[in-house]
Amino acid sequence: MKQDLLTFADWAPEDMAQLLELAQTIKQSPGRYANVLAGKSIVALFEKPSLRTRVSFEIGIHKLGGHMVYLDSQAGKLAGREDAVDVAANLACWADGIVARVFSHNTLQQFAEAAHVPVINALCDIYHPCQALADYLTLYETYGKVKGLTLAYVGDGNNVTHSLLIVGALLGCHQIVITPPDHEVDPDIFEKAQTIARTTGVNIVQSHDVAMAEGADVIYADTWLSMGDETPLSAIKDTFMPYQVNEALMQKTGAKYVMHCQPAHRDLEITGTLIDSDCSLLMTQAENRMHGQNAILTHLLGA
Ligand code: CP
Ligand code: NVA
Repeated sequence: MKQDLLTFADWAPEDMAQLLELAQTIKQSPGRYANVLAGKSIVALFEKPSLRTRVSFEIGIHKLGGHMVYLDSQAGKLAGREDAVDVAANLACWADGIVARVFSHNTLQQFAEAAHVPVINALCDIYHPCQALADYLTLYETYGKVKGLTLAYVGDGNNVTHSLLIVGALLGCHQIVITPPDHEVDPDIFEKAQTIARTTGVNIVQSHDVAMAEGADVIYADTWLSMGDETPLSAIKDTFMPYQVNEALMQKTGAKYVMHCQPAHRDLEITGTLIDSDCSLLMTQAENRMHGQNAILTHLLGA
């Protein structure tokens, strides 16, 4: 039976750890995986803009011996032309897999139901699983382990936060989620992460107080306004400015590294100087997008 990758929420900790290992192996020995997708075609449908996800999937699929067709749903105005289920069923007539970046998680669920080929979530309103895999691969390489580390996420509780919570809980990473009031993560996803965390011995806490990040190994930032959120920056800037990830916060907490999924807004959610500093893991995270995704593709589609 085909398997999709929409959230990681239904994965077992051992399987998650194995996928992380596979990502590292593919990164270290790409030649061994050069034919994993030989003769296979993947359609990548994007309802939202992308730099990292689009390019890392396209180049990554090429490195696995496959072929990617990019479908720009923004310019092509595919949305609304026919039902999502019909789009997915048609794509599955030709493609061996579907990668999709969509506004609504529900669209992914419809794709997964209608297509008899694997569907991979390339970001939706509530999850960004490929990002989280790359981020924990980055920590794994940096520290030689993920288990027992503490990641403090500071900013808006969003799709990236949700996936960091789920994948971190599976891999044994303690987490502190610090957001302004009214910008907390989805309570159901937090509860799901807590349920996993109880089985893996992970501590997860939520707070509105940046001082709670003290003692964390790494601080993680993301945009204050996610794609599709039309709130003007001026309406939230004052609320979020105390949550800026900057040198003072790094010093106060003692965190050694800073992470950000990018695109980053210099001197808003993170200072430009911090992005450019020695404690920045941003470019390793970006590089690891491809290796993590190639592990997912190998797992779902490899012969
Ligand atoms: N981090 C990330 O998903 O970047 P893109 O939006 O550029 O794909
Ligand atoms: N939370 C951000 C992540 C971008 C990669 C967004 O959804 O826009």
